[in-house]
Amino acid sequence: MIDRLNQLREEALGALQPIWDDAQLEQWRVKFLGRKGALSAAMDQLGALPKEQRAVVGKLANETKNALESAYQVKVGAIQQRALSESLETEPLDVTLPGRPVATGRLHPATQNLREIYRIWGDMGFQVFRSREIETDELNFQLLNIPPFHPARDNWATFYVAGTGQRVVLRTHTSPGQIRAMRLLSENGTQPVRVILPGMCYRYEQISARYEIQFYQVEGLAVGRNVTFADLKGTLTEFARRMYGERPVRFYADHFPFTEPSAQMDVKCIICEGSGCPICKYTGWLEILGSGMVHPQVLRNGGYDPDEWSGFAFGMGAERIAMLKHGIEDIRYFWADDLRFLEQF
Ligand code: DAH
Repeated sequence: MIDRLNQLREEALGALQPIWDDAQLEQWRVKFLGRKGALSAAMDQLGALPKEQRAVVGKLANETKNALESAYQVKVGAIQQRALSESLETEPLDVTLPGRPVATGRLHPATQNLREIYRIWGDMGFQVFRSREIETDELNFQLLNIPPFHPARDNWATFYVAGTGQRVVLRTHTSPGQIRAMRLLSENGTQPVRVILPGMCYRYEQISARYEIQFYQVEGLAVGRNVTFADLKGTLTEFARRMYGERPVRFYADHFPFTEPSAQMDVKCIICEGSGCPICKYTGWLEILGSGMVHPQVLRNGGYDPDEWSGFAFGMGAERIAMLKHGIEDIRYFWADDLRFLEQF
Protein backbone atom coordinates (compact mmCIF):
# COMPACT_ATOMS: atom_id res chain seq x y z
CA MET A 1 0.00 0.00 0.00
CA ILE A 2 2.80 2.39 0.90
CA ASP A 3 4.53 1.55 -2.34
CA ARG A 4 1.34 2.13 -4.26
CA LEU A 5 0.89 5.58 -2.78
CA ASN A 6 4.48 6.56 -3.52
CA GLN A 7 4.15 5.23 -7.02
CA LEU A 8 0.90 7.09 -7.50
CA ARG A 9 2.52 10.31 -6.37
CA GLU A 10 5.42 9.96 -8.74
CA GLU A 11 3.21 9.02 -11.61
CA ALA A 12 0.91 12.01 -10.99
CA LEU A 13 3.70 14.54 -10.60
CA GLY A 14 5.41 13.16 -13.69
CA ALA A 15 2.20 13.42 -15.69
CA LEU A 16 1.63 17.00 -14.50
CA GLN A 17 5.01 18.25 -15.67
CA PRO A 18 4.37 18.48 -19.44
CA ILE A 19 0.79 19.80 -19.15
CA TRP A 20 0.33 23.38 -20.40
CA ASP A 21 -3.30 23.73 -21.24
CA ASP A 22 -6.47 23.95 -19.19
CA ALA A 23 -8.29 20.96 -20.71
CA GLN A 24 -5.41 18.57 -20.03
CA LEU A 25 -4.97 19.97 -16.57
CA GLU A 26 -8.64 19.27 -15.83
CA GLN A 27 -8.26 15.68 -17.09
CA TRP A 28 -5.27 15.27 -14.82
CA ARG A 29 -7.24 16.60 -11.84
CA VAL A 30 -10.13 14.22 -12.45
CA LYS A 31 -7.80 11.28 -12.93
CA PHE A 32 -5.75 11.75 -9.78
CA LEU A 33 -7.69 13.98 -7.42
CA GLY A 34 -11.28 13.47 -8.54
CA ARG A 35 -13.90 11.77 -6.40
CA LYS A 36 -13.50 8.59 -8.42
CA GLY A 37 -9.83 9.20 -9.09
CA ALA A 38 -6.77 7.16 -8.27
CA LEU A 39 -6.16 8.70 -4.88
CA SER A 40 -9.74 8.18 -3.71
CA ALA A 41 -9.57 4.59 -4.87
CA ALA A 42 -6.41 4.04 -2.85
CA MET A 43 -7.91 5.69 0.21
CA ASP A 44 -11.00 3.52 0.00
CA GLN A 45 -8.79 0.54 0.74
CA LEU A 46 -7.51 2.00 3.99
CA GLY A 47 -10.37 0.38 5.86
CA ALA A 48 -9.25 -3.10 4.77
CA LEU A 49 -5.78 -2.71 6.32
CA PRO A 50 -4.85 -4.24 9.63
CA LYS A 51 -5.38 -1.71 12.39
CA GLU A 52 -1.68 -1.15 13.25
CA GLN A 53 -0.87 -0.11 9.64
CA ARG A 54 -3.88 2.09 9.19
CA ALA A 55 -2.48 5.18 10.94
CA VAL A 56 0.82 5.16 9.09
CA VAL A 57 -0.73 4.55 5.70
CA GLY A 58 -3.50 7.07 6.35
CA LYS A 59 -0.96 9.74 7.15
CA LEU A 60 0.98 9.01 3.98
CA ALA A 61 -2.25 9.11 1.95
CA ASN A 62 -3.02 12.58 3.32
CA GLU A 63 0.46 13.81 2.57
CA THR A 64 0.15 12.50 -0.96
CA LYS A 65 -3.16 14.26 -1.39
CA ASN A 66 -1.73 17.56 -0.11
CA ALA A 67 1.31 17.26 -2.35
CA LEU A 68 -0.83 16.68 -5.44
CA GLU A 69 -3.20 19.47 -4.59
CA SER A 70 -0.45 22.02 -4.09
CA ALA A 71 1.31 20.87 -7.27
CA TYR A 72 -2.02 21.42 -9.02
CA GLN A 73 -2.35 24.98 -7.68
CA VAL A 74 1.21 25.83 -8.68
CA LYS A 75 0.45 24.56 -12.16
CA VAL A 76 -2.71 26.69 -12.44
CA GLY A 77 -0.64 29.78 -11.64
CA ALA A 78 2.14 28.77 -14.00
CA ILE A 79 -0.31 28.31 -16.88
CA GLN A 80 -1.82 31.76 -16.28
CA GLN A 81 1.60 33.34 -16.09
CA ARG A 82 2.71 31.69 -19.31
CA ALA A 83 -0.47 32.86 -21.11
CA LEU A 84 0.19 36.41 -19.95
CA SER A 85 3.83 36.44 -21.11
CA GLU A 86 2.81 34.96 -24.42
CA SER A 87 0.19 37.63 -25.02
CA LEU A 88 2.65 40.35 -24.04
CA GLU A 89 5.16 38.98 -26.50
CA THR A 90 2.79 38.42 -29.40
CA GLU A 91 0.37 41.37 -29.02
CA PRO A 92 2.20 44.65 -29.58
CA LEU A 93 2.02 47.11 -26.69
CA ASP A 94 2.99 50.66 -27.50
CA VAL A 95 4.10 52.18 -24.23
CA THR A 96 4.63 55.56 -25.94
CA LEU A 97 0.87 56.01 -26.53
CA PRO A 98 -0.46 59.01 -24.61
CA GLY A 99 -2.71 58.25 -21.64
CA ARG A 100 -6.44 58.84 -21.69
CA PRO A 101 -7.16 62.52 -21.06
CA VAL A 102 -8.82 63.26 -17.72
CA ALA A 103 -11.69 65.71 -18.19
CA THR A 104 -11.48 68.48 -15.61
CA GLY A 105 -14.66 70.25 -14.54
CA ARG A 106 -15.03 73.99 -14.30
CA LEU A 107 -17.33 76.55 -12.80
CA HIS A 108 -20.39 77.54 -14.78
CA PRO A 109 -19.83 80.85 -16.60
CA ALA A 110 -22.67 82.41 -14.58
CA THR A 111 -20.84 81.44 -11.38
CA GLN A 112 -17.51 82.71 -12.66
CA ASN A 113 -19.19 85.96 -13.59
CA LEU A 114 -20.91 86.33 -10.21
CA ARG A 115 -17.61 85.73 -8.44
CA GLU A 116 -15.96 88.40 -10.55
CA ILE A 117 -18.75 90.81 -9.56
CA TYR A 118 -18.40 89.88 -5.85
CA ARG A 119 -14.65 90.42 -6.07
CA ILE A 120 -15.02 93.90 -7.53
CA TRP A 121 -17.66 95.01 -5.02
CA GLY A 122 -15.76 93.31 -2.21
CA ASP A 123 -12.65 95.29 -3.12
CA MET A 124 -14.79 98.43 -3.00
CA GLY A 125 -15.94 97.67 0.55
CA PHE A 126 -19.32 96.02 -0.08
CA GLN A 127 -20.33 92.94 1.88
CA VAL A 128 -22.25 90.10 0.21
CA PHE A 129 -25.68 89.54 1.79
CA ARG A 130 -28.16 86.82 0.93
CA SER A 131 -31.88 87.32 0.74
CA ARG A 132 -34.90 85.12 0.02
CA GLU A 133 -35.92 83.75 -3.34
CA ILE A 134 -39.50 83.45 -2.17
CA GLU A 135 -40.84 86.74 -0.91
CA THR A 136 -44.06 88.20 0.31
CA ASP A 137 -45.88 90.61 -1.95
CA GLU A 138 -45.27 93.17 0.78
CA LEU A 139 -41.48 92.95 0.58
CA ASN A 140 -41.23 92.41 -3.16
CA PHE A 141 -43.58 95.30 -3.95
CA GLN A 142 -45.41 97.24 -1.25
CA LEU A 143 -42.46 98.32 0.89
CA LEU A 144 -40.78 99.42 -2.35
CA ASN A 145 -43.59 101.87 -3.08
CA ILE A 146 -45.46 99.52 -5.39
CA PRO A 147 -48.93 99.01 -3.85
CA PRO A 148 -51.43 96.50 -5.25
CA PHE A 149 -52.74 97.51 -8.68
CA HIS A 150 -49.95 100.07 -9.14
CA PRO A 151 -49.21 100.33 -12.87
CA ALA A 152 -45.49 99.80 -12.23
CA ARG A 153 -46.33 96.17 -11.44
CA ASP A 154 -46.49 95.63 -15.18
CA ASN A 155 -42.69 95.85 -15.21
CA TRP A 156 -42.48 92.72 -13.07
CA ALA A 157 -44.62 89.93 -14.51
CA THR A 158 -44.91 87.85 -11.39
CA PHE A 159 -45.04 84.17 -10.47
CA TYR A 160 -47.31 83.75 -7.45
CA VAL A 161 -46.85 80.84 -5.07
CA ALA A 162 -50.13 78.96 -4.80
CA GLY A 163 -51.73 77.73 -1.60
CA THR A 164 -50.34 80.31 0.77
CA GLY A 165 -52.67 82.41 2.87
CA GLN A 166 -51.05 85.69 1.96
CA ARG A 167 -49.73 86.70 -1.44
CA VAL A 168 -46.33 85.07 -1.80
CA VAL A 169 -44.20 85.43 -4.93
CA LEU A 170 -40.98 84.23 -6.50
CA ARG A 171 -39.02 87.44 -6.18
CA THR A 172 -39.08 89.40 -9.42
CA HIS A 173 -35.97 91.37 -8.46
CA THR A 174 -33.42 91.47 -5.67
CA SER A 175 -34.64 94.87 -4.43
CA PRO A 176 -36.65 93.44 -1.47
CA GLY A 177 -33.22 92.47 -0.11
CA GLN A 178 -32.66 96.21 0.46
CA ILE A 179 -35.44 96.24 3.05
CA ARG A 180 -34.18 93.05 4.71
CA ALA A 181 -30.58 94.32 4.84
CA MET A 182 -31.62 97.67 6.31
CA ARG A 183 -33.86 96.03 8.92
CA LEU A 184 -31.07 93.67 9.92
CA LEU A 185 -28.49 96.44 10.20
CA SER A 186 -30.78 98.79 12.13
CA GLU A 187 -31.93 96.20 14.66
CA ASN A 188 -29.65 97.51 17.40
CA GLY A 189 -29.45 101.12 16.29
CA THR A 190 -28.98 102.31 12.74
CA GLN A 191 -25.55 101.92 11.16
CA PRO A 192 -24.20 102.57 7.67
CA VAL A 193 -24.99 99.99 4.99
CA ARG A 194 -22.75 98.89 2.16
CA VAL A 195 -23.92 95.58 0.77
CA ILE A 196 -24.57 93.71 -2.43
CA LEU A 197 -27.38 91.16 -2.62
CA PRO A 198 -26.96 88.61 -5.42
CA GLY A 199 -29.57 86.03 -6.28
CA MET A 200 -31.90 84.33 -8.73
CA CYS A 201 -35.01 86.24 -9.81
CA TYR A 202 -38.06 85.07 -11.72
CA ARG A 203 -40.42 86.71 -14.19
CA TYR A 204 -43.35 85.32 -16.08
CA GLU A 205 -42.18 86.40 -19.50
CA GLN A 206 -41.82 85.16 -23.02
CA ILE A 207 -38.32 83.68 -23.24
CA SER A 208 -36.20 85.24 -25.99
CA ALA A 209 -32.61 86.08 -26.78
CA ARG A 210 -32.84 88.93 -24.28
CA TYR A 211 -35.26 87.68 -21.62
CA GLU A 212 -35.25 84.57 -19.48
CA ILE A 213 -37.86 83.60 -16.90
CA GLN A 214 -35.04 83.13 -14.42
CA PHE A 215 -31.88 85.18 -14.18
CA TYR A 216 -29.40 86.48 -11.64
CA GLN A 217 -29.49 89.99 -10.35
CA VAL A 218 -26.98 91.70 -8.13
CA GLU A 219 -28.55 94.40 -5.99
CA GLY A 220 -26.43 97.01 -4.29
CA LEU A 221 -27.21 99.36 -1.42
CA ALA A 222 -25.16 102.04 0.28
CA VAL A 223 -26.70 104.07 3.10
CA GLY A 224 -24.85 106.69 5.10
CA ARG A 225 -24.99 110.16 6.58
CA ASN A 226 -24.17 112.19 3.48
CA VAL A 227 -24.50 109.83 0.55
CA THR A 228 -25.19 111.81 -2.63
CA PHE A 229 -25.92 111.26 -6.27
CA ALA A 230 -22.24 112.04 -6.92
CA ASP A 231 -21.36 108.98 -4.82
CA LEU A 232 -23.72 106.91 -6.94
CA LYS A 233 -22.14 108.09 -10.17
CA GLY A 234 -18.57 107.74 -8.95
CA THR A 235 -19.07 104.30 -7.45
CA LEU A 236 -20.93 102.83 -10.43
CA THR A 237 -18.46 104.35 -12.89
CA GLU A 238 -15.63 102.73 -10.94
CA PHE A 239 -17.45 99.39 -11.03
CA ALA A 240 -17.76 99.63 -14.83
CA ARG A 241 -14.08 100.50 -15.13
CA ARG A 242 -13.07 97.46 -13.09
CA MET A 243 -15.45 95.20 -15.02
CA TYR A 244 -14.93 96.44 -18.57
CA GLY A 245 -11.72 98.45 -18.48
CA GLU A 246 -11.44 102.06 -19.60
CA ARG A 247 -14.69 102.68 -21.44
CA PRO A 248 -17.08 105.64 -21.52
CA VAL A 249 -20.26 105.38 -19.44
CA ARG A 250 -23.31 107.60 -19.29
CA PHE A 251 -26.24 108.05 -16.91
CA TYR A 252 -29.69 108.29 -18.33
CA ALA A 253 -32.89 109.38 -16.59
CA ASP A 254 -35.11 106.44 -15.67
CA HIS A 255 -37.94 105.73 -13.28
CA PHE A 256 -38.31 103.23 -10.44
CA PRO A 257 -40.82 103.67 -7.61
CA PHE A 258 -38.21 102.87 -4.95
CA THR A 259 -35.62 105.45 -6.03
CA GLU A 260 -35.83 109.19 -6.63
CA PRO A 261 -34.20 110.28 -8.81
CA SER A 262 -33.52 107.13 -10.84
CA ALA A 263 -30.95 106.52 -13.53
CA GLN A 264 -29.84 103.78 -15.82
CA MET A 265 -26.17 103.41 -16.57
CA ASP A 266 -24.93 102.62 -20.07
CA VAL A 267 -21.47 101.67 -21.28
CA LYS A 268 -20.17 102.41 -24.77
CA CYS A 269 -21.06 99.42 -26.95
CA ILE A 270 -18.25 96.86 -26.81
CA ILE A 271 -19.13 95.46 -30.23
CA CYS A 272 -19.18 98.59 -32.38
CA GLU A 273 -17.45 101.07 -30.03
CA GLY A 274 -20.31 103.49 -30.53
CA SER A 275 -20.71 103.52 -34.28
CA GLY A 276 -23.96 101.53 -34.13
CA CYS A 277 -24.71 97.80 -34.51
CA PRO A 278 -27.62 95.38 -33.94
CA ILE A 279 -26.42 94.53 -30.40
CA CYS A 280 -26.78 98.15 -29.20
CA LYS A 281 -29.75 98.70 -31.54
CA TYR A 282 -27.71 101.36 -33.36
CA THR A 283 -27.58 103.60 -30.29
CA GLY A 284 -23.88 103.02 -29.57
CA TRP A 285 -24.70 102.37 -25.89
CA LEU A 286 -25.58 99.31 -23.80
CA GLU A 287 -27.60 99.54 -20.60
CA ILE A 288 -25.99 97.61 -17.75
CA LEU A 289 -27.97 98.56 -14.67
CA GLY A 290 -30.74 100.54 -13.01
CA SER A 291 -29.99 102.75 -10.02
CA GLY A 292 -31.10 105.74 -8.01
CA MET A 293 -31.18 107.52 -4.67
CA VAL A 294 -33.15 105.41 -2.19
CA HIS A 295 -36.66 106.84 -1.80
CA PRO A 296 -37.26 108.36 1.68
CA GLN A 297 -40.20 106.04 2.27
CA VAL A 298 -38.05 103.00 1.45
CA LEU A 299 -35.44 104.20 3.95
CA ARG A 300 -38.21 104.56 6.52
CA ASN A 301 -39.51 101.05 5.71
CA GLY A 302 -36.01 99.74 6.40
CA GLY A 303 -35.83 101.51 9.77
CA TYR A 304 -33.74 104.53 8.68
CA ASP A 305 -34.81 108.14 9.25
CA PRO A 306 -34.56 109.91 5.87
CA ASP A 307 -33.84 113.21 7.62
CA GLU A 308 -30.59 111.73 8.86
CA TRP A 309 -29.72 109.08 6.34
CA SER A 310 -29.50 108.92 2.57
CA GLY A 311 -28.38 106.23 0.18
CA PHE A 312 -28.09 104.96 -3.32
CA ALA A 313 -29.10 101.60 -4.74
CA PHE A 314 -28.62 99.74 -7.96
CA GLY A 315 -29.64 96.49 -9.59
CA MET A 316 -27.85 94.75 -12.41
CA GLY A 317 -28.69 91.70 -14.46
CA ALA A 318 -25.69 89.43 -13.94
CA GLU A 319 -26.05 87.46 -17.18
CA ARG A 320 -26.37 90.72 -19.06
CA ILE A 321 -23.13 91.97 -17.52
CA ALA A 322 -21.41 88.79 -18.74
CA MET A 323 -23.05 88.97 -22.17
CA LEU A 324 -21.70 92.45 -22.72
CA LYS A 325 -18.29 91.48 -21.47
CA HIS A 326 -17.92 88.40 -23.68
CA GLY A 327 -20.13 89.35 -26.63
CA ILE A 328 -22.68 86.59 -25.88
CA GLU A 329 -25.71 87.22 -28.06
CA ASP A 330 -28.37 85.04 -26.49
CA ILE A 331 -29.22 84.81 -22.78
CA ARG A 332 -30.70 81.32 -23.27
CA TYR A 333 -27.20 79.85 -23.53
CA PHE A 334 -26.78 80.29 -19.78
CA TRP A 335 -29.33 77.67 -18.75
CA ALA A 336 -29.31 75.48 -21.88
CA ASP A 337 -26.54 73.15 -20.59
CA ASP A 338 -24.85 73.07 -23.98
CA LEU A 339 -21.24 71.98 -23.44
CA ARG A 340 -20.11 73.75 -26.61
CA PHE A 341 -21.05 77.00 -24.90
CA LEU A 342 -19.97 76.12 -21.36
CA GLU A 343 -16.54 74.82 -22.37
CA GLN A 344 -15.59 78.21 -23.76
CA PHE A 345 -15.29 79.64 -20.26
N1 DAH B 1 -35.16 96.23 -9.26
C1 DAH B 1 -35.00 96.85 -10.55
C2 DAH B 1 -35.42 95.86 -11.62
O1 DAH B 1 -35.52 94.72 -11.36
C3 DAH B 1 -33.57 97.24 -10.78
C4 DAH B 1 -33.18 98.38 -9.91
C5 DAH B 1 -33.37 99.68 -10.33
C6 DAH B 1 -32.65 98.16 -8.66
C7 DAH B 1 -33.01 100.75 -9.56
C8 DAH B 1 -32.31 99.23 -7.85
C9 DAH B 1 -32.49 100.54 -8.32
O2 DAH B 1 -31.79 99.06 -6.64
O3 DAH B 1 -32.10 101.55 -7.53
O4 DAH B 1 -35.67 96.27 -12.74
